[in-house]
Amino acid sequence: MRPPKDFFLPLALGAPEPLREVPVRPSRMIHFFPASNEKVVSKLPDLAPKVDILLANLEDGVPAGDKEAARAGMVHVARTLDKGETQLWTRVNSLDSPWCLDDMVAAVVEAEGGIDVIMVPKVEGPEDIHYVDRLVAQLEARAGLDRPIGIHAILETARGVANVEEICGASPRMQGLSLGPADLAANRRMKTTRVGGGHPGYLVRADPGEDADAPRLTAQQDLWHYTLARMVDACVAHGILAFYGPFGDIADGVACEDQFRNAYLLGCVGAWSLHPSQIDIAKRVFSPDLAEVEHARRVIEAMGDGTGALMLDGKMEDDASVKQCHVVMGLARQLSERDPELAALYGFTA
Ligand code: GLV
Ligand code: MG
Repeated sequence: MRPPKDFFLPLALGAPEPLREVPVRPSRMIHFFPASNEKVVSKLPDLAPKVDILLANLEDGVPAGDKEAARAGMVHVARTLDKGETQLWTRVNSLDSPWCLDDMVAAVVEAEGGIDVIMVPKVEGPEDIHYVDRLVAQLEARAGLDRPIGIHAILETARGVANVEEICGASPRMQGLSLGPADLAANRRMKTTRVGGGHPGYLVRADPGEDADAPRLTAQQDLWHYTLARMVDACVAHGILAFYGPFGDIADGVACEDQFRNAYLLGCVGAWSLHPSQIDIAKRVFSPDLAEVEHARRVIEAMGDGTGALMLDGKMEDDASVKQCHVVMGLARQLSERDPELAALYGFTA
């Protein structure tokens, strides 16, 4: 364990100083794109202003034969895309793969500072983050970067979940975590073959009534609730951001929206979008509802210095509930700085 005094020292001579806080930037969706696909890459200038984070995927989903083309595509995008306020991330191959080291060199050195955050899959414990942390520092020093690159870990193994607090606190580079339901399900031997979302077999059933043969009400439960809630607590305790990961049933926008909303309500800041249709879903879900913003504004105004208790529309408000309102207002304000439509909707225009 590094002593607290040394925690914020660069891990290589000439590497930039680590950040003390995760930069506050809109992060409602991490939009995955295959960087080896020229048609997709040619549309990025139009797409960039519509998403908060673009991610050049090098890992799962990219066939082994395309790994080098995807890496070269990522470097090309990082060097040439005019991304404005949009963040550009990449997901490297896992630490035990034959591609990871070259992915790291490309993302830090060849990308010439164009990558904001490296997403590291299948992180099992703090030792994985320590390795990436030192390696990235060495590469940053070699590239002469003046701004540190963040690390985002995917929580997708049982060991990763067991070590989630230590992973979040392993480096000042840690930007956040995503839940990876597909790999996690496989690793845990869960018996679902779906990429995220619920399962009709995972349910609770009402007790039998007087007529033992009458149908009994059932309700599907959320397979991911425990992991998501645990991940959010670990992230918040360490001052980093939590994201829901992929929802694979692209055609089922309704269930995708439900999954994203559960994550939003539990404390996540965003989710992955694997298809353009999921960008709008994420934008809708992870931007606060107008009615919530209006309610929050009324409570904050009514609460004055934020202490005491009062009744508003028959409901009790106090020091704690006004803090909940500040969470919603803070997010609305932050998103409005980037999105004039939201600023107008929430009434933040001058
Ligand atoms: C994402 O990487 C997942 O495995 O769900
Ligand atoms: Mg995965």
